[in-house]
Amino acid sequence: MPIRIRCASILLMFCGVFGGELDETETILVMKGDSVSLHTGLGEVNREMQIMWMFGPEKANTLIAEIHSMIVSIYDSYEELKDRVQMSQRTGSLTIRNTSISHSGLYEAQIMTTVTAFKRFHVIVHAPVSFPVIENSSLVSDCQMDDGGFPCAVLCSAENGPGVSLSWYKDGERLNQTSGPDLNFPLSVLLEIKERSKDVYQCVAANPISNKTTPFSFQEHCPQHTDSSRFCGSTEIAIRLVVSMLMGVATVALVIYDVRSGGGVNEVFQC
Ligand SMILES: *[C@@H]1O[C@H](CO)[C@@H](O)[C@H](O)[C@H]1NC(C)=O
Ligand SMILES: *[C@@H]1O[C@H](CO)[C@@H](O)[C@H](O)[C@H]1NC(C)=O
Ligand SMILES: *[C@@H]1O[C@H](CO)[C@@H](O)[C@H](O)[C@H]1NC(C)=O
Ligand SMILES: *[C@@H]1O[C@H](CO)[C@@H](O)[C@H](O)[C@H]1NC(C)=O
Repeated sequence: MPIRIRCASILLMFCGVFGGELDETETILVMKGDSVSLHTGLGEVNREMQIMWMFGPEKANTLIAEIHSMIVSIYDSYEELKDRVQMSQRTGSLTIRNTSISHSGLYEAQIMTTVTAFKRFHVIVHAPVSFPVIENSSLVSDCQMDDGGFPCAVLCSAENGPGVSLSWYKDGERLNQTSGPDLNFPLSVLLEIKERSKDVYQCVAANPISNKTTPFSFQEHCPQHTDSSRFCGSTEIAIRLVVSMLMGVATVALVIYDVRSGGGVNEVFQC
């Protein structure tokens, strides 16, 4: 179900930059794969009307569909929109089926009778967020120790994307949150736990159209050890994992060091 937001004139900085007039631009948030219909608001198209639908990622400047003398024409101006655009002959409304991220942008209907009226839409297609993942390694290195391991930290990660945030909650209260502009890197957020308890924590990934939750509790993640002095397996396993992680990091560091000292420095001196 697309989410529709009407932009009043106070939001024109954000919504109205592409139009000189003070008409409204409707912002529509769509879940990837869903259909979206952009309505002209007309009851019925008549013979004297011509309606042109324009689209562009930043400016609605390319003709993608029109109706003229009651005849609908769809243009393959954008490869991404090919075979996904429909225009209603009755109302002139535009429908995009099976939306993808590349369909985000500005859509404008130019409705020409004796005068020209405009209908503008800012469509933002979001993919649903991925399920957050509770990282095994952080559990192992901190929380799986004996009682002495507290306070410890549980790391939760999720794929990044436009408008995605990642948070830890307990009983509806947000304990920590992160988001990041660099979409190439996954998001991670730490939960600091002071002591072992029966509490259930939720790691929630959210964007404007969806959210997904992965719960964390000691009961669930370490059922057999919750009430014993040993916690989530032996300390030995934890130490081994920490050691192998450290060795991995050391190897990577050495390789980077080798590459740096091998190539870059010499070149500088030769110049
Ligand atoms: C929807 O589009 C995607 C590519 O964006 C394609 O892989 C998929 O098959 C399409 N689904 C349908 C039902 O047309
Ligand atoms: C750690 O990961 C493995 C496989 O990915 C999984 O089988 C195991 O249950 C995880 N352990 C914890 C404590 O989450
Ligand atoms: C919140 O998460 C950040 C990033 O993962 C971490 O540096 C910080 O210690 C966390 N704060 C709390 C209170 O858990
Ligand atoms: C998650 O989405 C549901 C609707 O699917 C909504 O009721 C809830 O408030 C959302 N939670 C968060 C933390 O955004």
